[in-house]
Amino acid sequence: MASKKIGVLIGGSGLIGGTIVNYYKTHHPETVDIRAPSSKKFSIREENDIRRYLADVKPDFVINAAMANLGSDAQLAFEVNYQGPIILARAANSLKIPYIHISSAATLPPGENLREDDTLPLSPDLSNYAKSKLMAEATLKLMAEKEGLDFSCVRLAIVYGAHDHKIQGFHRLLFSIADESMPVLFTKKNTLHSYTNARKLPHFIHHMLENRAEFHSRTYHFVDKNPVDLATLILTIKSYLRLNQPKEIYVPYWMANSGKNVLNILLRIFRRIGLKATLPPELMFLDSFYKPQTLSCERLKNSSFADPMPEESIFTRLPELVSYYLKRWSHENLISSYNANLAIEKPVEQTFINNPQKLIDDIHAKGIGPFNNMLER
Ligand SMILES: NC(=O)c1ccc[n+]([C@@H]2O[C@H](COP(=O)([O-])OP(=O)(O)OC[C@H]3O[C@@H](n4cnc5c(N)ncnc54)[C@H](OP(=O)(O)O)[C@@H]3O)[C@@H](O)[C@H]2O)c1
Repeated sequence: MASKKIGVLIGGSGLIGGTIVNYYKTHHPETVDIRAPSSKKFSIREENDIRRYLADVKPDFVINAAMANLGSDAQLAFEVNYQGPIILARAANSLKIPYIHISSAATLPPGENLREDDTLPLSPDLSNYAKSKLMAEATLKLMAEKEGLDFSCVRLAIVYGAHDHKIQGFHRLLFSIADESMPVLFTKKNTLHSYTNARKLPHFIHHMLENRAEFHSRTYHFVDKNPVDLATLILTIKSYLRLNQPKEIYVPYWMANSGKNVLNILLRIFRRIGLKATLPPELMFLDSFYKPQTLSCERLKNSSFADPMPEESIFTRLPELVSYYLKRWSHENLISSYNANLAIEKPVEQTFINNPQKLIDDIHAKGIGPFNNMLER
């Protein structure tokens, strides 16, 4: 029997990384041993960590799904999103193994049907995130041309999927609607965006790793084939949640932006008097709510990759995701108000509040000794 391949994945506790680890563990446990060191043990900011770990493990491929939090300062964004990926790629090149890099549509301007080469020019006024992601893409391309690096870069748009612990991007939008903190629509009609289905991505990564000649040194947009109108998506979520808001009133950009500017001034004052306050993440991306950004998936379509779930889109996934996140946020007491008619299963909640002894008795009755069959499978 052929020995298992070893894959190293950075960012395994994140939305994308976690989905990839889960995929390998469920779909290819016999052929791939996927290792995902925690960021506490292995920091992409430390060259020594990277070199030592990869030299010890000697993997057959490396996938980088790490990123610094969106609001990170310039130093952290530079170290995690640019310098780290380049050191990883150098190490992968030394071991002569493929390096899979996850990038973002933040490297692209607004617009429709954007191709892989339509990147933003690198300029000082870009956000720390966009700038660092763009810099990484540029250096990786050069490393492939000049140093023979075997890499593939996958650009994601707005990602949807389970296990987003940090509640970013699309899940932040879902959260704002569920939390009833979006009274009206902060977008304009027909603002189309591309979306990425997190659970399809690992299938593509695996396919790329199995077909290096085709995918070597190339960047791919990995997005659903049909872009989605933001207002339609928000109103669909609202109807699933059976909420009365957001009302179908479109706030013009100038008005929303003035509100954001006023809030920025207030936050500056708060910070001056020692209060820790930052702009809510949903407002950091206000511009993109009003500007379309759709990515061409022509290159992906023309590749040998076959979509494993062609019928699946953000709309078909919505019921499952809404139910998953609502349950989770409600258990974590993150949602302050939600429609009480929407039955969220909390089987022990009332007993836990009113009669904890009953729960202790129930657990004791089930048994608290060691498991007899602990090692049976
Ligand atoms: N989510 C989206 O909507 C979206 C959209 C477009 C592109 N992307 C791209 O997809 C990739 C993954 O994003 P995500 O949404 O999965 O991010 P995420 O949920 O925020 O996860 C980020 C991961 O990076 C790890 N990390 C952070 N600093 C690290 C360090 N110094 N060393 C090692 N690991 C570190 C984190 O570990 P800890 O939690 O332990 O710090 C976490 O596992 C990124 O390249 C991002 O640009 C995401």
